[in-house]
Amino acid sequence: MPTPEPAELRDLAVRVATAAGELISRGRPDRVEVAATKSSPTDVVTAMDTASEQLLRQHLRDARPEDGFLGEEEGHEGGTSGLTWVVDPIDGTVNYLYGLRSYAVSVAVVRAQGRPDPATWTVLAGAVVDPSAGETWAAALGAGATLSDARGVRTLRCGDGPELGQALVATGFSYDAQRRSEQAAVLARLLPRVRDLRRVGTASLDLCSVAAGRVDAYYERGLNPWDFAAGWLVAREAGAVVTDFAGSAAGTHGLLAAGPGLHPALRAALDLG
Ligand code: IPD
Ligand code: CA
Repeated sequence: MPTPEPAELRDLAVRVATAAGELISRGRPDRVEVAATKSSPTDVVTAMDTASEQLLRQHLRDARPEDGFLGEEEGHEGGTSGLTWVVDPIDGTVNYLYGLRSYAVSVAVVRAQGRPDPATWTVLAGAVVDPSAGETWAAALGAGATLSDARGVRTLRCGDGPELGQALVATGFSYDAQRRSEQAAVLARLLPRVRDLRRVGTASLDLCSVAAGRVDAYYERGLNPWDFAAGWLVAREAGAVVTDFAGSAAGTHGLLAAGPGLHPALRAALDLG
């Protein structure tokens, strides 16, 4: 079966992420219970994380039975087409648990051998659906990034970025206590040098916010592939520079997204490379 155009894959990503977004927003009980914990007692899974991933897995299997699948909750399943869907069924699970409105469904498709590795994969298309805001962020490799909402569809262009002292910088924290204390030390160094910091709690939306200029930059260490695959492409296709802290491919070891003017100054200020 020939590989479809990235735009066709993007449209499928939007369709399935929209269906999962409806499931998790309409189906959210008044009081969300923790179903299980993962890497630490605060790294939680709700019944809706599992239900959303099952819906995504089923829809994608129906549409493209030969593709692989990597989901946050149930892991990797190989395919035969060379494409793998990389899926976070709820990004921002802690927000979802508490009834905060920032959470999203993130769906990307990558070309990769075996289990997708951000060092070597090619992200072909992605969608990030934010059901609370009624916003859908989407991108296809070489075809740009868009934001769709009730007012229509806009092409995203990330500007160069302000000077470091004027930059509004988003970040996120790991669930691991040791890593959090390292992150706090970095934060203490950075805070006096920038306009301000934001910790929204949804990595995929942080990356989309860079694409739209809602923040000037976003950085985090310790992300998983499903947290950033789709948002990475949205930011990149909007013109942002997205690397690790040494200027190489972004990954679990580090991700820094910013406009091309701001990126080098912020990378130097973080001094993590
Ligand atoms: C988390 C969120 C958060 C980021 C964490 C992620 P999850 O994903 O994206 O903003 O700081 O590193 O693990 O657990 O809500 O899917
Ligand atoms: Ca998640």
